[in-house]
Amino acid sequence: MRKKIVISYFAIIIVLTSTFALIMMNSTNNMMTLQLQNRFVNECDLLKQVFVSEYQNKGNVDFDFRSFVNDASRELDTRVTIIYEDGTVLADTHEDPAKMNNHLNRAEVIDAIRTDKMGTSIRYSNTVKADFLYVAVPAHIGGETWIIRVSKQLTEIKEMNQHILNVAVVSIFGTAVFALLMSIFVSKRITKPIDALTETANEIANGEFGRKIYIEANDQIGELAQSFNKMSQTLSSSMSELRQRNSELEAILNSMINGIIAVDQNKNIILINKFCFDILDLPQDYVVENESMYKIIRNEEIANMVECAIIEGQSQMKELNYVHTEKILRIYVNPIIAATKEILGSIVVIQDVTQIRKLEQMRSDFVSNVSHELKTPLTSIRGFVDTLKNGAIHQPETAMRFLDIIDIESDRLYRLINDILLLSEIESMDREPEQTEVEVSSVIEEVVDILELRANEKGLKLVTEVEASPVIHANRDRIKQMMINLVDNGIKYTEKGEIRVKLGTQGSWVVITVSDTGIGFNESHKERLFERFYRVDKGRSRSQGGTGLGLSIVKHIVLLYKGKISVSSQPGKGTTFEILIPNAKR
Ligand SMILES: Nc1ncnc2c1ncn2[C@@H]1O[C@H](COP(=O)(O)OP(=O)(O)OP(=O)(O)O)[C@@H](O)[C@H]1O
Ligand SMILES: [Mg+2]
Repeated sequence: MRKKIVISYFAIIIVLTSTFALIMMNSTNNMMTLQLQNRFVNECDLLKQVFVSEYQNKGNVDFDFRSFVNDASRELDTRVTIIYEDGTVLADTHEDPAKMNNHLNRAEVIDAIRTDKMGTSIRYSNTVKADFLYVAVPAHIGGETWIIRVSKQLTEIKEMNQHILNVAVVSIFGTAVFALLMSIFVSKRITKPIDALTETANEIANGEFGRKIYIEANDQIGELAQSFNKMSQTLSSSMSELRQRNSELEAILNSMINGIIAVDQNKNIILINKFCFDILDLPQDYVVENESMYKIIRNEEIANMVECAIIEGQSQMKELNYVHTEKILRIYVNPIIAATKEILGSIVVIQDVTQIRKLEQMRSDFVSNVSHELKTPLTSIRGFVDTLKNGAIHQPETAMRFLDIIDIESDRLYRLINDILLLSEIESMDREPEQTEVEVSSVIEEVVDILELRANEKGLKLVTEVEASPVIHANRDRIKQMMINLVDNGIKYTEKGEIRVKLGTQGSWVVITVSDTGIGFNESHKERLFERFYRVDKGRSRSQGGTGLGLSIVKHIVLLYKGKISVSSQPGKGTTFEILIPNAKR
């Protein structure tokens, strides 16, 4: 830009100066020539009058042409020639007339005769080898005509021209230097604010919104700078507003507990929230924006739903098993419709309903299990009551046996209902409301007291190994219940050997282990062992009077006190349950 300004400024000044110099030179030349010509005309006229009077005085014979021209030439400092009307040169100050050819064809002579006043001409003289100005006037004496001609070499004009040319060259050169300096200065003045504008515009383009320029000028550049600053300010505030809105939107999207994916018409991802990564089990740093939706969702049903929404503009909902993450997902797909009714893409909302469905399944399993468990003893009781009513009551021995069975079954029913109630009570609790400091060793002692007899009856030993006397925050009755359930299992599922209860500490944990030398079970049961009503051997458990709720209650009590439970078992060798509960005095 600056280069352009410098070049154009420079060119304009040089062209103008040169033109002006040329015009000046030309007109000076013309003026000088005209002045010289006028002088010559006057001199020539004067000479003519002198010639006429001298010629008339002296007469044809005595008049000496030669000395006349020489005298005149000396006087006027010019070349003087006298030509007769037929063109013959009679005398010349610079040449021998005899050697000179006829002069009737000379332009000044022709003009002088034609106008009968005077004729002029500027011509290159071969004789003297220079430019000459010729002025000729006719002189009439008694019917005869002479042409008096004066001429002069144009050295004066030439010198003058040379001088003007020198001055012009010097002044053009001076002007050129001046023009160059001026144009650099002017271009700097013009381009400086533009450079500043360009620089600031570049900064804004690089994201530095709100940048300002400081130009103190009252012209258009100043106005431009003001508008520019205003624009920059508006841009900056719009950008920060946009950023704010964007981060708000992002925060909203990311705090949603549903996965959201927006795709364009080509099924490329425009937007995705964090939750989607969790649901679809994707690494959090996985870059998916602008990538195809199929990069993260490999499910034909979802693909069809999106296709349908984009092509037909239909909203859809489906629940499906997503095999890649083993989750049950509820998928809502809606078209994204612009104000112009054009379908821009589709929005997919993914809801993880795995837990809900699992809970529903567990609840319905529980209900059917409970009703089955209740039905069994009740059917048995009703059957025996009917048999008694139908006459068995009159056979005392049979009646007594039947009544015993009814007693056992109703006891079982009672325990079952108690267990269900206890379980639901613990399950509904977030934390224990009646919490005290419980000395675990005393609980173990009490449990051993209660169950020792039963163990001994089966020929089993009940051993305790108390290594410490830790205290936990809990409800004593529940800890007792937990211990009873575990030791009871040990007695129930052990035929010979012992049941050992150990108490110790491990860091900030109180560790209780209950191990036996019983029948044990296979690894495959471990996972489901703590489920309600789960029994490894249904027949055996039932014959032992078990409901299948014992371990479930144990697990919930442990969880209520933020503890952990684990089990290891080997079929035919025995089973060990290990419970960790936070130590109250850590
Ligand atoms: N110490 C153990 N040795 C072997 N199997 C066990 C042991 N403890 C529990 N089991 C298995 O786990 C199942 C579930 O135990 P849980 O205590 O919940 O029910 P239960 O003992 O059958 O009935 P109850 O509700 O009367 O305790 C049992 O049926 C049994 O098959
Ligand atoms: Mg049990």
